[in-house]
Amino acid sequence: MSGNLNQGTSSTHHGQPLDVTAQLLIDDYIERFGDGRGLLIPILYRLQDYLGFIAPEVEEYVAKRLGLKSIEVRGVVSFYSYFTDAPRGKHHLEMCLGTACYVCGGRRLLETIQEEAGIDVGETSADGLFSLQVVRCIGACGLASAVAMNGQVFGRLSPIAARSLIRRLRSGDEMAGQSKPGGGHA
Ligand code: FES
Repeated sequence: MSGNLNQGTSSTHHGQPLDVTAQLLIDDYIERFGDGRGLLIPILYRLQDYLGFIAPEVEEYVAKRLGLKSIEVRGVVSFYSYFTDAPRGKHHLEMCLGTACYVCGGRRLLETIQEEAGIDVGETSADGLFSLQVVRCIGACGLASAVAMNGQVFGRLSPIAARSLIRRLRSGDEMAGQSKPGGGHA
């Protein structure tokens, strides 16, 4: 890593102090691979993996270091479902609304998940247990409707099974995510 890294927190125009880990990750990456627009997505992947989300002040610092506008970085973060701008829940749900899942009742399944988890798409529950995103095809079309939780796919998930899964997880049943609530575990 660079010997001239600023070890303290930096302020950004956003007003929030920049997370030191984020700053070190960004500076280290740029030192090793150079800078420029082509590094934007690799850096964002790294930040998402290490930090769990990409805060506005982090976006701003990335933009500054790569010579981009903050709005350009914002656009990429909001476009790709892999990136989030808020901490994800312990159980991160990705509801597929690709064609196969949509025609197999995906919309109703999504509504059930929203209702049971008490969150809308893009939100994290207040207790930090659940977060929800909509994605377009997770490669399990033969098991539609499908939902991924922390990367694990649950196929042929009915609204009743989804409700049961969320209730079990909320009650602390960590094995709930290991079972086959939809009967089709991919
Ligand atoms: S459309 Fe849902 S997994 Fe392909």
